[in-house]
Amino acid sequence: MAKVFGLVLGFLTQIFPYPSQVRLSPVGVNNGQVITPELSNSIQEILDVWNITGLSVAIVPKSGEPEYHSWGDRTEDGESVTQDSKWVALWLNKGVHDNVTVIPSSVYGNASQSFAVSIGTPVDSEHSIEGYGLGWFRNSYLGHDVVYHSGSIRGLSTRVSFLPDNDVGVVVFANGDNKAAPVMNISNSIIDAALHLRSGPAPPIIPEKKAVTSPSEDIVNLELPLEEFSGTYTDPGYGTFTFCSPSSDSLYCQQVIANFTAVDSVRPSAPSSPQLLAAWPRVWTSHLRAVHQSGNKFMLLPTALFPEGYGRDSTPFETAEIGTPGATAEFVVENGKVVGFGLFGGDQVAERARTLTTVKDRAEVWFDKVQNTG
Ligand SMILES: *[C@@H]1O[C@H](CO)[C@@H](O)[C@H](O)[C@H]1NC(C)=O
Ligand SMILES: *[C@@H]1O[C@H](CO)[C@@H](O)[C@H](O)[C@H]1NC(C)=O
Ligand SMILES: *[C@@H]1O[C@H](CO)[C@@H](O)[C@H](O)[C@H]1NC(C)=O
Ligand SMILES: *[C@@H]1O[C@H](CO)[C@@H](O)[C@H](O)[C@H]1NC(C)=O
Ligand SMILES: *[C@@H]1O[C@H](CO)[C@@H](O)[C@H](O)[C@H]1NC(C)=O
Repeated sequence: MAKVFGLVLGFLTQIFPYPSQVRLSPVGVNNGQVITPELSNSIQEILDVWNITGLSVAIVPKSGEPEYHSWGDRTEDGESVTQDSKWVALWLNKGVHDNVTVIPSSVYGNASQSFAVSIGTPVDSEHSIEGYGLGWFRNSYLGHDVVYHSGSIRGLSTRVSFLPDNDVGVVVFANGDNKAAPVMNISNSIIDAALHLRSGPAPPIIPEKKAVTSPSEDIVNLELPLEEFSGTYTDPGYGTFTFCSPSSDSLYCQQVIANFTAVDSVRPSAPSSPQLLAAWPRVWTSHLRAVHQSGNKFMLLPTALFPEGYGRDSTPFETAEIGTPGATAEFVVENGKVVGFGLFGGDQVAERARTLTTVKDRAEVWFDKVQNTG
């Protein structure tokens, strides 16, 4: 859920009103030569492989004109990538524009420095572990400090980053949802070109490590029958929603279950563990799927269902942001009754989670159960 929070911040930052029209000197990164014809061709190949129909990028120097490039159908109106590069330039200048402090330095510091660990072990040899501040993730790519935020909603995927020590930012907007992997690959290729990385001798080939198989933990059953976990939950910030179990028979639950059944019936593999299902109509989701893990813990996956397909294609489908691990929902049972659940975002481990003991205190968000029937 912290990732979802981050996403919210990411969206807010994109509509930041810029104080005045920028007049920039004509000095760009590499004099506007980052996107060479070779790089442009290799990016086009990535777009073809991943069925991305349009891409806009901006390479943003600390001062001077950004370099823009687009492929296929440009995302949105072409204005967005321009607006976003002004926002990135502001961050490269630590919140100062034309000698005017737009972002106070304490806000710059708290937002861009990490307070939680979002990725605790490197995913590959090119990236370090990753931290999370207020809306910005921070890690190291090939030894270079990168501050970024990525996101995806229906129809588009984005990644906005800046390298505070290298005075350059990269904005990537793609036409296509669930494109976190190729968008990161493209963003990294642009950083490689802007910083002349990988131009030296090829890195040594490291023998593939044998995958370490951790002993699978024993799955513990739910403390109470699944239907005891259905019902209405509320949080002052996130609002109120109702989880259905397969035995919930209200009209609402019949519709929720029918909508999930429609998309699950055409999936090659639907989850086989017990599930709690809810409607959750928001900008980037329509429903919530909670899949039982162990004990009173469920994996909570915000998702968008299209039970009647989209447009003229009526094939049901589901779309959820790939790469987002989902959040863990840990339910609390007191005196034989479910009283609520705490949400723990993705891999993020906040200090709170290491030092406090009760679910309610450790959780990033706490939902009270307010009604039993689903
Ligand atoms: C791209 O589209 C083609 C045709 O619809 C499909 O077969 C292929 O799986 C898609 N590739 C990806 C990476 O989604
Ligand atoms: C910012 O302040 C410096 C030092 O006072 C001055 O030299 C410079 O012209 C100012 N720049 C702008 C854009 O006002
Ligand atoms: C975070 O904000 C607090 C309160 O304004 C400030 O004292 C502190 O220096 C900030 N931290 C950073 C890293 O900027
Ligand atoms: C992009 O992905 C390709 C294929 O997986 C990989 O060979 C290449 O190293 C990646 N490039 C970057 C800059 O991550
Ligand atoms: C079920 O799906 C239909 C079609 O997308 C939608 O209009 C309706 O709101 C959904 N209802 C629930 C309760 O999920």
